[in-house]
Amino acid sequence: MGNVITVDGISFAFDTNPNQKILENISFAGEEYEFVSIIGPSGAGKSTLLRIMAGLIRPTGGKVSFYGEEVTGPIPQISFVFQDFALLPWLTNIENVEVGLTLSSLSDQQKERKAKGFLDRLDLKGFENQYPNVLSGGMKQRVGVARALVSDPEVLLMDEPFSSLDELTARSLRSEILKTLKDKAIPLKSVVMVTHNVEEAVELSDKLVIISNKPSKVKEIKKISMPHPRNRHSKEFLNLVDRVYAALAS
Ligand SMILES: Nc1ncnc2c1ncn2[C@@H]1O[C@H](COP(=O)(O)OP(=O)(O)O)[C@@H](O)[C@H]1O
Ligand SMILES: [Mg+2]
Repeated sequence: MGNVITVDGISFAFDTNPNQKILENISFAGEEYEFVSIIGPSGAGKSTLLRIMAGLIRPTGGKVSFYGEEVTGPIPQISFVFQDFALLPWLTNIENVEVGLTLSSLSDQQKERKAKGFLDRLDLKGFENQYPNVLSGGMKQRVGVARALVSDPEVLLMDEPFSSLDELTARSLRSEILKTLKDKAIPLKSVVMVTHNVEEAVELSDKLVIISNKPSKVKEIKKISMPHPRNRHSKEFLNLVDRVYAALAS
């Protein structure tokens, strides 16, 4: 199976501090229907790397490609889910989802129908015309995911998407996103998630990209072939979790 998204020798330093490299020579790929997690300590540059993959920031060196085409700016095939949801409080929930269709050529009526469909899928039926402030954190992130998926992206980039949710809520949304990718019912081909949560990464991922800090380099790329749903209490799972912690600490 081919690579959907390729990160090839990415390096990065901020203009304000060009001597401090944040990312150094990072390379990995997301293959078709693969769930990839980038795991590393806080401040390692994970969010910066994901923004580079989304075309929101230009790297200092290296390149990101989508099916072999260099990504030089945001493209509709790549969507982003933010840690803090990033909903617009002055828009209703359905209008927030329609933000994901800003660049689409659909009519207003088609946009509304599509946005409603994604709100339904994400269990938010009845909340279309309410505002984000009435929603729980988990529901807000469902709106964030609906906004990201409504444009039929092939790549979903998620920056610590579950870290501000309570564990029960996080669990149900995690399994839904994994199911969405594996069901192959929508054009989605690859999910790349940034996290510092080892158990979460081991539960969801087909591939783990373990990165170090200052500057961030790839320490290890680990493939995980355990079938889903994964039992968090199995010996195999717990062994793997231990090995990832060890790799992070090394
Ligand atoms: N605009 C900026 N200018 C300079 N340094 C920044 C800027 N934004 C983030 N940083 C620094 O870059 C490093 C990586 O940040 P970030 O990508 O947010 O890491 P992570 O998501 O892994 O916690 C941090 O040390 C942070 O302080
Ligand atoms: Mg971050």
